[in-house]
Amino acid sequence: MHARRLARVKHDPQDMVAVGDYERAAPESLERLAHDYYRSGSGDEGTLAANRAAWARWLVHYRVLIDVAKRDLSTTILGSRWSMPTMVAPAALQRMAHPDGELATARAAKAAGVPMGISSLSTTSVEEICAVGGDCWLQLYVGQDRGFVREFVARSVRAGCRAIALTVDAPVWGTRERDVRNHFHVPAHLSVVNLVRPGGPTGHSGRGLGEALSWLIDPALCWKDLEWLREQTELPIVLKGIVRPDDCVRAMRSGMQGVIVSNHGGRQLDGAPATADVLERCVQATKGERADGVVLVDGGIRRGVDVLRALALGADGTLIGRPMLWGLAVHGEAGVRRVLEIMHAETSQAMALAGCPDLRSITRDLVERAS
Ligand code: GLV
Repeated sequence: MHARRLARVKHDPQDMVAVGDYERAAPESLERLAHDYYRSGSGDEGTLAANRAAWARWLVHYRVLIDVAKRDLSTTILGSRWSMPTMVAPAALQRMAHPDGELATARAAKAAGVPMGISSLSTTSVEEICAVGGDCWLQLYVGQDRGFVREFVARSVRAGCRAIALTVDAPVWGTRERDVRNHFHVPAHLSVVNLVRPGGPTGHSGRGLGEALSWLIDPALCWKDLEWLREQTELPIVLKGIVRPDDCVRAMRSGMQGVIVSNHGGRQLDGAPATADVLERCVQATKGERADGVVLVDGGIRRGVDVLRALALGADGTLIGRPMLWGLAVHGEAGVRRVLEIMHAETSQAMALAGCPDLRSITRDLVERAS
């Protein structure tokens, strides 16, 4: 405990120059169980690695002699104003990273002017997180107990969530082998508060997420269930965890307002393609489907130039997950703030250097895939 406290004060947020600095510092502030849980991908972690590598293959053919003295990074997505095209991805169990957990993240996201995705597996209640007053989205799993899901959605709407991201890449949990080896379980002092019911499973025992929280997901969930979900709320719903153009189209035709091109940060099917490699096809397929439809993307985004690449390939916005967790682990709220500040500064700089004063000018001709 003592060592962990020392680690947290060792670095100053302003000394953290890139989000990679937080990634490197995070193990000093985290128990192995937590660090492995956050960093792991499934299987051989091939998709986890591919996500990062794939962005770097898109080379940016920058424009010169454009007035970029003023840059506007803001955008409007699903009716909300974002200060930059990057939101905080839903990530589970944030009080494992820092005692302030999701509240710290919510405060930092609010200060940065970007939405936060609230994980169903949060260790702070959806009501408390929304009370911070930022723009919150609920990440939802639809498990077999539909009565519970209905009530959870209603609670989240009452709490003030502005959109729902339904995770669709998890009919079963991917095996994160580090978690299995570590006998991963939700630490005894924490609880997945949104989900616990009297007498119900708590996630406090298990060998990986699969055993600890298998009840949360439903392997029988399918497209027709979206009709039921659509009836539960008028909030915009996006499907998170799609890598195929036909699934993107089907999502939009099923009344969803958008998709998050994602492979769950390489945590579900190892062998799935990198999101940077499928994004453009997904965007193209959804063109003309719905005027208000959005395509977001996550997976391996670590630099402002990755955000620029994603937008050039047609994404409306991006999400970052692990970098925010590393910031949270090292500096709590200040760390998440710093990560978002770095992403903003880098995105702004990448835009300037590529000759883009605003997001509209980030067009497809800017990027070409290295052969
Ligand atoms: C939860 O969604 C996880 O990937 O651990």
